[in-house]
Amino acid sequence: MISSPEAAKLVLVTRAHLFKPTFPASKERMLGKQAIFFHQGDYHTKLRKLVLRAFMPESIRTIVPDIESIAVGMMKSWEGQLINTFQEMKTYAFNVALLSIFGKEEVLNREDLKKCYYILEKGYNSMPINLPGTLFHKSMKARKELAQILANVISIQRQMKHNQRNLLGSLMSDKEGLTDEQVADNIIGVIFAARDTTASVLTWILKYLAENPSVLQAVTEEQEEIMREKCGGEKVLVWEDTKKMPITSRVIQETLRVASILSFTFREAVEDVEFEGYLIPKGWKVCHFLETSITVQTIFQSQKSLIPQDLRWLQNPIHFMPFGSGTHTHVQGMS
Ligand code: HEM
Repeated sequence: MISSPEAAKLVLVTRAHLFKPTFPASKERMLGKQAIFFHQGDYHTKLRKLVLRAFMPESIRTIVPDIESIAVGMMKSWEGQLINTFQEMKTYAFNVALLSIFGKEEVLNREDLKKCYYILEKGYNSMPINLPGTLFHKSMKARKELAQILANVISIQRQMKHNQRNLLGSLMSDKEGLTDEQVADNIIGVIFAARDTTASVLTWILKYLAENPSVLQAVTEEQEEIMREKCGGEKVLVWEDTKKMPITSRVIQETLRVASILSFTFREAVEDVEFEGYLIPKGWKVCHFLETSITVQTIFQSQKSLIPQDLRWLQNPIHFMPFGSGTHTHVQGMS
């Protein structure tokens, strides 16, 4: 287990080639062996390029109004209801993920895909015992059905042959030559990467805002001001508006620091590595505990409470890495 920012830099950045990503074999089978997380080298570089391309501002700016519409629709459905915030945020994150992966066109049966994915994810952390009745068995069955659903979508898309800016379009672009299995594994991989992380940060933001009325008021005023500035017509949020939210952005960043959404990154030493007098033997697992880097008391006023004004990590990114660092760092854009 490593926790200092210096050790993290060694493992994730400067000597990243000596530490390969590692996950339980069962997780690889569930997500798909061709998914981005499990690879290094040329194939990994190519996938990063394709995934990044789908989440660049030019690609996602057109879907901002649709993302807003998903959020507004969900909020309306909560009126007068008692809700489980995390579950609702998971639904929201899933719907936004589908929008950014497949676009608005009805190329797939969303309900079937949802049903299978929800069964699959229940088994992500299950014991890998593949016997009828076990969570793992149900998950693997759902994974097969999911592969079939995606194979149909990919086949329809190949016949339609038009270039799209979404993730499916990017992964299927002719010159990249990915197989159907590679495309499907990376679609499931991105849903996996996007869903619980996004739902978790949104849930923490709501909790912290409820606990800090003055911050909630500042965020509300900032959002209302953006809507007030829009003259006439339908008041729809657009990409440019997202650049006029300094207070909201600070609250998001501070929440990412305080709540520490992903606790660990997982690597395995591919050869013996020495660090500050310690030997990390070949084959040993190396977990970087992200939380310790971003709550260092000497750097931040508070370890565990929300202080949106405290932005000193921006001057020292090594102490703020909620998205990891180095070759496998999170794909910025959607988040
Ligand atoms: C606030 C929410 C999120 C947090 C805190 C987060 C955090 C992270 C972290 C720490 C890693 C690095 C893991 C490692 O080094 O082993 C990572 C990787 C990744 N993230 Fe995110 N993530 C978030 C949301 C998303 C979303 C919405 C997407 C959808 C595009 C996404 C896609 C990915 C992908 C594809 C990788 C793997 C990159 C690679 O292996 O090269 N993440 N994320």
